[in-house]
Amino acid sequence: MLRRLHAVQPDSFAFTEANLAWAQGQITKYPEGRQASAIIPLLFRAQEQVGWLTRPAIEYVADMLGMARIRALEVATFYFMFHLSPVGSVAHIQICGTTTCMICGAEELIAVCREKIAPNPHQPSADGRFSWEEVECLGACTNAPMAQIGKDNYEDLTPQTLSDLIDRFAAGDVPQPGPQNGRFGAEAKGGATALTEGEGERQAHNAAVQRALDIGDTIRRIDGTEVPLRTPWQPAPQVNADAADADPKPGAGHPVDQSGISVEEAPERPAARVKDDGVAPGGTAKAEPGQPVDEDDDKV
Ligand code: FES
Repeated sequence: MLRRLHAVQPDSFAFTEANLAWAQGQITKYPEGRQASAIIPLLFRAQEQVGWLTRPAIEYVADMLGMARIRALEVATFYFMFHLSPVGSVAHIQICGTTTCMICGAEELIAVCREKIAPNPHQPSADGRFSWEEVECLGACTNAPMAQIGKDNYEDLTPQTLSDLIDRFAAGDVPQPGPQNGRFGAEAKGGATALTEGEGERQAHNAAVQRALDIGDTIRRIDGTEVPLRTPWQPAPQVNADAADADPKPGAGHPVDQSGISVEEAPERPAARVKDDGVAPGGTAKAEPGQPVDEDDDKV
């Protein structure tokens, strides 16, 4: 499926102060020389800040991570989690149209989107509140047909249940994600026939649905308050000291070895990438003396 950058782009992008601090904390999770691995969370936060992923945002994040801009473009255009054009202000509905979902009724779901939202994918509804697109397999094939709405999956859909979901979103509700036909998870529709131990003791919802209900960010833009960034190896700010013992313990400056396998470590400095002038692209962190930037290292 062809994914292109939107024809109309803003002039620039910069993280807010809070998002910049969050991004710099994320970068410290990765070993020296592997900062480009932070590309997905940083692109996603940039998307959450704007509402969709703009070309200036992609380039800003690439510069911040010291990687070639084309590498960041490759990531942004590959994953459907990145919206390359403006989306509805309430919800963007991604209908899986791959084999299993297609066989089970995805085309009827798309017809609902064409009727209730807009005739064409990526075309906002008349009131600008909804948009839709067809995407490739979202990994919930046993619960086909399904759609991702915001950050959660809505599964076992019919044209009627999808239509009702859209109406509820329009009314300000956030319907419970997961199977919409009463299934707990991905068990057989007639009930589980294996691994049935403890069935009577299980929680009301499967783990993914429960997590969605607990966090409540299905169609809300994340702002960092949902799950605190945990970087206890950083001297300050210590966002969540209680979680320190549960977190991986970073090493102390051990780089990735020749095999590409790293010890579990993260650099102690908050900004992983700095230019020769000592200022991180898009940031304010100063380079330590003797910490040059390797412009050639852009591996993800
Ligand atoms: S085919 Fe639709 S989720 Fe896999």
